Amino acid sequence: MQTSVPMTLCARAYLSPEPFSPGTFLLSLCSRPARAQPRGKMAAPTNEEDAALEPGAAPYGNFPNYSRFHPPEGRLRLLPGGLLRRLFPSDARPLLGLDVGCNSGELSVALYRHLLGLQEGKGSPEQPADGKDLHLLCCDIDPVLIERAQQSSPFPNSISFANLDIMDSNSREPFLSSYLSRFGRSTFDISFCMSVTMWIHLNHGDRGLVEFLAFLSSLCRYLLIEPQPWKCYRAAARRLRKLGRNDFDHFRSLAINGDMAERITQILTRDCAMELVCCFGSTSWDRSLLLFKSNGSNHEGREPSEQQQ
Ligand SMILES: C[S@@+](CC[C@H](N)C(=O)[O-])C[C@H]1O[C@@H](n2cnc3c(N)ncnc32)[C@H](O)[C@@H]1O
Repeated sequence: MQTSVPMTLCARAYLSPEPFSPGTFLLSLCSRPARAQPRGKMAAPTNEEDAALEPGAAPYGNFPNYSRFHPPEGRLRLLPGGLLRRLFPSDARPLLGLDVGCNSGELSVALYRHLLGLQEGKGSPEQPADGKDLHLLCCDIDPVLIERAQQSSPFPNSISFANLDIMDSNSREPFLSSYLSRFGRSTFDISFCMSVTMWIHLNHGDRGLVEFLAFLSSLCRYLLIEPQPWKCYRAAARRLRKLGRNDFDHFRSLAINGDMAERITQILTRDCAMELVCCFGSTSWDRSLLLFKSNGSNHEGREPSEQQQ
C-alpha cells in the first residue's frame, strides 16, 4: 500500500499563492521529495509490531528500545540543514519547540543537534552553528522513559523532559502554559509529532485524534508530523491479539482510516487552520514527514507583549 502523501497534495502546497516568506527555499527544498535509503547493517523493521516483540505489550507505543528500530537518522536525513534559519529568519529571541511522545529522548536530542547544526562531540548549545537559540520541551506518557531521557540528556539546560499525557486536558494546559510563561510566550514556534498519531488514534478514537490535532495546531506556528500508515494499525492490533490482550478500544470503529498521511493533512488543513508547507519525503519504513504552518491569528511570530519589550 502506498502511504506517502500523494504528489498532487504536496504540489498543491508548494504552488500555493499564499505568501510564505521562505517560499523560494521551500520550493527548491520540496521539489525533491525523498525516500530515505536504508543505511547501515540494521534493517529497520517495517512496522512497530516488530519493534515491540522484545518488550511485550506497549499500549501507547512506549517501546523501551524504539530508537534502535527506527533510528533518528532515518528522519533527520530528510530534513534540510538550516531549516530553523529559513523558517524563522528574523526571530532573535529563543525559539521554543515541543516534542510530543518523545520516548526516551534519542530523537529529541538528535533533532536538537540537527536543527542547530551541532555535530556530536563538537560545539555547544551556547554557540550553535546555526545561530539560533532553541529550547525544547519533550513529553511522554511513560514516566520510566522520561527518567531515562533525563538521565542521559547532553543538553539539560536547553532540553527539558517531562512526564505528561498530552490527552489529559486537566494537566497539559497548566503544565504547558507554565513552561511557555517562563519565556513570556503563549505558543511554541514548532512542534514535533513523530510516530505518535497512531497511538493517540488507537487509544482515543477518531474524536481523540481530531481533538489532539486541533490542540497541537493551536499550540504552534509550525508542526512537523510523521503519521504512521494504516498498515501499522493493523500490525499493532494483530500484535495485541497475539499477546492474548483485548483489541484496542477503538480499532474496529475508526472511520478515519486508509491513507493516514492524507487524512491527517485533510484534518489539519480543513479543520485546524494549517497549511501544508512541505512533504520532506518518506522514511525507509514508509512514513511521510510533513511540515505544516498555522494560519491562525495567535501565531503572528512575535507576541504583543514581546514587541513592547
Ligand atoms: C512510537 S514512539 C515514538 C517515539 C519518538 N517520537 C520517535 O519517533 O522516535 C511513540 C511515543 O508516544 C508516546 N505517547 C503515546 N501516547 C501518548 C500520550 N497520550 N501522551 C504523551 N506521549 C504519548 C509513547 O509513550 C511513545 O514513547
